[in-house]
Amino acid sequence: MMPNPLLGVPTLADVELPGKRVLVREDLNVPIADGAVAGTARIDAALPTIERCAEAGAGVLVVSHLGRPVPGVRDPALSLAPVARELARKLGREVRLVRDWRRGVALRAGEVALLENVRFEPGELENDEALARDLAALCDLFVMDAFGTAHRAHASTCAVAWRAPAACAGPLLARELQALAQAQADPARPVVAIIGGAKVSTKLRLLEALAPKVDHLLIGGGMVNTLLAAHGQGVGASAVEPELFASAREVATATEAPLPVDVMTAAAISADLPARLRPLGEVADDELILDIGPETARRFATVVEAAGTVIWNGPLGVFELDQFGEGTRVVAEAVAASPAFSIAGGGETLAACEKYGVREGVSYLSTGGGAFLEFLEGRELPGVEALRRPRREA
Ligand code: 3PG
Repeated sequence: MMPNPLLGVPTLADVELPGKRVLVREDLNVPIADGAVAGTARIDAALPTIERCAEAGAGVLVVSHLGRPVPGVRDPALSLAPVARELARKLGREVRLVRDWRRGVALRAGEVALLENVRFEPGELENDEALARDLAALCDLFVMDAFGTAHRAHASTCAVAWRAPAACAGPLLARELQALAQAQADPARPVVAIIGGAKVSTKLRLLEALAPKVDHLLIGGGMVNTLLAAHGQGVGASAVEPELFASAREVATATEAPLPVDVMTAAAISADLPARLRPLGEVADDELILDIGPETARRFATVVEAAGTVIWNGPLGVFELDQFGEGTRVVAEAVAASPAFSIAGGGETLAACEKYGVREGVSYLSTGGGAFLEFLEGRELPGVEALRRPRREA
C-alpha cells in the first residue's frame, strides 16, 4: 500500500474493501447517562467510515474503549451496549455487540459488529503483543480511525497495526490530521491561538510549543491568573502556580500575548453569585477571577477578526455558569464570524461551541481532547506512527 503523500500513511482510499474483514478502531468513548448515549458527536464522526466499509461489501468489526475500567473487570456501567444500540439506530442496520471475541468472530459481508469495551481486556493499556495478535487475527485490514485515542500506545491503537495483515488510516483520522496540518504546516497568517483552561501546568507544553509559531496568543481561563500574577498583577484569592511564573513570562514574551485589562469576579464559583466587573488592579483580596472582562473580550475578538488561522482550545472563563461565560461567548462568536480557517478541540471547547451555537461557524471541530493537545504540542501520536512502521510478522 502506498502512503498518502500528504499524510505519510496509507488511507482507506488506497485499499480494496469488498469481501475483506475490516477491523476499525474508532473512539466511541462517549458520555453515557442512565444507560444511554448522552452525546453522539464521536459516533456521528465515525459513521461515514463504518458505512463506507459496510457498503463496499466488507465485514466490519468496530473496536473502541469506553471510560477507564479496571483491566479484567467487566464493569456493566462501562459496557459498549448503549453505543451498539445507538450505532444500529444511526446506521439503520443491526450492530451485534460481541463480548467474547478472542477466539474469532464470524462476520458476513456488509455486516457490522462492535467488540465489547477493549479496555476490559488485560494488556490493552500495555500495548500487549498477545492481545494485538488476537485483534489482528480478526481482520484482513486494520483501519485506524480513532484520532481521539491516537495519543495512546495501546494494543488496539498501536501494536495491532504492526500485527494486522494490512493497516491504514481511516477517513476521520485523515481529516483530523489534514485539518491540524492546515493550521500548523503553512498556515494563513496571522495565526491566533486561543488557549484557556484551569491551570498553566496542564497546558505549559502546549503554550511553549505554540508561542514561537503563532502571531497572537490569547490566554484566558483559570490559567490567566498565573500569567497575571507573574506580571505583578493582583488576582485576589484566585489560584496561581508561583513555580510557573518564570515560564509564564517567557511564553508571553515569545509572541504577542496581551494580558486582560479587565476581569469578572465573584467571591466563589456559584450559580447564585452575580459577576462583578473589575478593571485590572482592582480585584479585591477575597475575590476569584472567573472570566475575562468585556473590554478584554472585545480586544480578543478584534484580534480574531483579523486572523488568517485560529487554533482554539479551552474556554476563557467558567462558561458553565452564564454570568461567567460572556468572554467565551464573545470570542466564540468572533471565531465563527471570521473567514479564517479555524480549528477547535477539547471537550470543554466543543461544549462551549454548542452552548453558544457556533459549531457551524468553526471550520473544523476535532474529536480529540488529549490527542488534539499532544499533536499541537508537537508530540508524535503512537496510533499514527504505528501506521508508518513496517508491519511485524506474527
Ligand atoms: C478521550 O476522551 O480523550 C479519549 O477517548 C481518550 O481517553 P483516555 O484519556 O481515557 O485515554
